[in-house]
Amino acid sequence: MRTHLFKLLACFFIGCLAININAQKPIPIIVNVDKPKADIKPTMWGIFFEDINFAADGGIYAEMVKNRSFEFYRPRTGWKIDIASNDSSHFLILNRGVLNESNPRFARVTLKEDVGKLSITNSGFRGMGVKQNVRYNFSIMAALPSDNNIRLSIELINQSGEIIGQASVSPKGKDWKKYESSFVSSKTDLKASLRIWFEGTGVIDFDMVSLFPGDTWKGRPNGLRADLVQLLADLKPGFIRFPGGCIVEGFDLSTRYQWKKTIGNVEDRQLIVNRWNTEFKHRPAPDYYQSFGLGFYEYFLLAEDIGAEPLPILNCGMACQFNSAELVPLNQLDPYIQDALDLIEFANGKPETKWGKIRSQMGHTAPFNLKYIGIGNEQWGPQYFERYALFEKVIKARYPEINLVSGTGPQPDDELFKSAIESLKSLHPQLVDEHYYRPPQWFRDNAVRYDNYNRNSYKIFAGEFAAQSVSTTSPDNKNNWECALSEAAFMTGLERNADIVNMVSYAPLFAHVDGWQWTPDLIWFNNLTSYGTTNYYVQKLFSNNKGTKVLNMLQENKPLTGQVGLYSSAAFDEVSGEIILKMVNTTADQKSTSIVLKTTRKVLPKASMTILKSNNLKEFNTIEKPESIKPAEQEIAIKGKNIEMTLAPYSLTVVRIGTK
Ligand code: AHR
Repeated sequence: MRTHLFKLLACFFIGCLAININAQKPIPIIVNVDKPKADIKPTMWGIFFEDINFAADGGIYAEMVKNRSFEFYRPRTGWKIDIASNDSSHFLILNRGVLNESNPRFARVTLKEDVGKLSITNSGFRGMGVKQNVRYNFSIMAALPSDNNIRLSIELINQSGEIIGQASVSPKGKDWKKYESSFVSSKTDLKASLRIWFEGTGVIDFDMVSLFPGDTWKGRPNGLRADLVQLLADLKPGFIRFPGGCIVEGFDLSTRYQWKKTIGNVEDRQLIVNRWNTEFKHRPAPDYYQSFGLGFYEYFLLAEDIGAEPLPILNCGMACQFNSAELVPLNQLDPYIQDALDLIEFANGKPETKWGKIRSQMGHTAPFNLKYIGIGNEQWGPQYFERYALFEKVIKARYPEINLVSGTGPQPDDELFKSAIESLKSLHPQLVDEHYYRPPQWFRDNAVRYDNYNRNSYKIFAGEFAAQSVSTTSPDNKNNWECALSEAAFMTGLERNADIVNMVSYAPLFAHVDGWQWTPDLIWFNNLTSYGTTNYYVQKLFSNNKGTKVLNMLQENKPLTGQVGLYSSAAFDEVSGEIILKMVNTTADQKSTSIVLKTTRKVLPKASMTILKSNNLKEFNTIEKPESIKPAEQEIAIKGKNIEMTLAPYSLTVVRIGTK
């Protein structure tokens, strides 16, 4: 009797165990390799560049002298003028007015006596970052109205006041000329400054005081900061959108971005105030201007260098609707539309054409092969669509091959967005730009956003997005792991819908740690170094593991869009023959998965697995600890086509499996 009871109990426990084991066995996730869903466009993952947060001047544009042409509203901004008290020498700002409308101001120093009593010092953009043993190239435009001998002694000064580099120039003659000299820095310093001593007697006029590091990207003069370009190149971006962003629109129409004023000789590019100079009371930047040293020619070169399709965004006759909301009357829109036509000629025209010739003279005879243009940035309302329609009519008639990008306003789901979708029904953009600055939860919830979108209309350009840890424009937003992980979850939805989502870019791109206005941002930097945020690594993992075809990856016939906190997408790379899986675990628990590869192809025994993770959702990288969260790659063994895989808590896992 006892034995019988024992047997019964034993059977009961074994039964329970069996049921339990079954309950824990993961439901298979089927990856259908042999029946791809759609192409993944080479443009899929790209870059959004805007001159915000000192992204251009003081950032990627390597010029170290702030207000080099004395054109800031307060012309002495960035400069400290020192004249010994017993010296009657003086420093003046003069204005040439109509004689040089794009660069009217210059400085005049009158030296009365003695040597070494008048100096001017430039503080740079929150200091000048200089590196030991790197060469620095100084230049200045100067003219001497009367015959005299004046020598400029140039000194690089570190924060301790030591001279760590020296050079000199001796301008001659009445005509404006450029004078150059260079030196090697003997020390590294994050916040050095540049001092110029004026020696001799007489008068000297000068302008365009400049200092560039010799180690710019590709060693180009008037070049870009190599570390920042390298971070962009490492993304292997499919496109680069420029120059923004609201900077395209301007606070008012007078401060809108006008590409024609950003090309040609640097000294002829008319400086204007940066729209972000006054935008946020909590982050004022009175010294934020646009010198346009980084102008449209340089943007096209950058795109070419990093293998990205250029995507310029043009002003459509509307200033920022959050600011002045000025409009160009419809019957005066022609010059704006002409700017678009001329831009296409500048980028693609033969060197014999008017604008193609300017490109060629600037050093690029071959066309830049422009394929996309955005009309307006984040515009809304009927005024936008009636202006867009005029651009579309003219551009398409002349250049039918150019893909046009329209906007939908600042939100992805409000009344303005809905009315934009209605207006677009009578228009024909190839791509439509949607923006999402939302809490992390929104990104997780919206991994399904495009699953039921109209397949028979335009394609989607997810042109600006970033999860906001506090709220949009809050200075307390952080690039924390919860935000990045949620973006990764959302991006599996973008990839799954690659048949209609053709372009994607995180925004904004850059932020100077001492000069930012907007956070979060993809890449942060100081004057010497830079680092990728957790969000950067998410973008990089998606972009570097893009593939060419999107695959179905289904559990019980459904994509993983948050079931038990998991998200996933799959792609096939026709060039390498690899299956690429992206899996996001948004939970605090380890998750077991069982993946079944449905394919007639031979699966190779080794695969690579890259994991980006943190146990702390609030963790983020900083300039002091730039790699707190970074991807770790390992090799894994694959046995057959059924793969058991464990996903770490709070992780993005990318697996590349070779096939033949
Ligand atoms: O990315 C920052 C700003 O956000 C962009 O300039 C604008 O388009 C959006 O409102």
